[in-house]
Amino acid sequence: MKKLIIAANWKSNMTKDEAETWLEEFSKQDFSELPEVVLLAPFTLLDMVNTYIKDKSLPISLGAQDISPFKKGAHTGEVYSGEIKEFCSYVLIGHSERRSSFNETDEMVNKKIEEAASAGLSIIVCISNISQVKNLSSENVVIAYEPLEAIGTGNAENPEDVKLFVDQIKEIKNATVIYGGSVNSEIVKNYTGLENINGVLVGSESLKVNSFSDIIRNAI
Ligand code: PGA
Repeated sequence: MKKLIIAANWKSNMTKDEAETWLEEFSKQDFSELPEVVLLAPFTLLDMVNTYIKDKSLPISLGAQDISPFKKGAHTGEVYSGEIKEFCSYVLIGHSERRSSFNETDEMVNKKIEEAASAGLSIIVCISNISQVKNLSSENVVIAYEPLEAIGTGNAENPEDVKLFVDQIKEIKNATVIYGGSVNSEIVKNYTGLENINGVLVGSESLKVNSFSDIIRNAI
C-alpha cells in the first residue's frame, strides 16, 4: 500500500459528549488495512481524545486545527506549540476558513509552520492556489490542496484537474500532497488512486463515524 493519510477535520463541531460517542463507535469498526488516520480536533477536546486514543490503543494520530504563531507568553487566547505537543503529533495550518475569516496571511502561515516545526509536530498546511505554495517557507510539510469552491459544497474538484494542479505543486515543492473538498466514501478512491496524491482531508463526512470509516476503507 502506498503511504496514505486520511485526515478528519472536525472544525468547530464537537462537544465532549459527541466526541466520546464518536470515539466509542470508531473503536468498534473493523478495518482490514489501515492508512495513517489523523483526527484534527478542537483544542477543548485534545486532552480527552488523546487519553481515549492511548487507553484504547486506537490507531489514530491526533492533531490540532491551528497553532499560535508566537512562542509561549503573553498572547491571550493563543495556544502555543508546546501546549499542543503535550497531546498531539499533528497540526493543521492555514485552512482557507482561517485565511478568510481571520485574515491569515502567507507570512502568518509561515510563522505558524516555524513554531510547529520547532516542537517537532507533523504539519498539514492547506493551500488553494499556486501563490500560496510558492510562498511556503518549508518543504517539510504535508500540503493539503483544497480548492475553495469544493469545500463544504458537495462539488469535489474533478480528479483529472486535481492531478494537473498537484503536478504544478510538485514542481515547486517536494512535499506529500493530499486533496480536500467534499470528499465522501463514494469518490475517495478517485483521489487516493491518483499517483501524485497521498491521502485526503475530510470535513463534514468525518463527523459521522460510518461515513468516515467507509472513506478509510474505500481509500485503499
Ligand atoms: P468538506 O471540508 O469535506 O466538508 O468539504 C473539507 C475541509 O474544509 O477541510
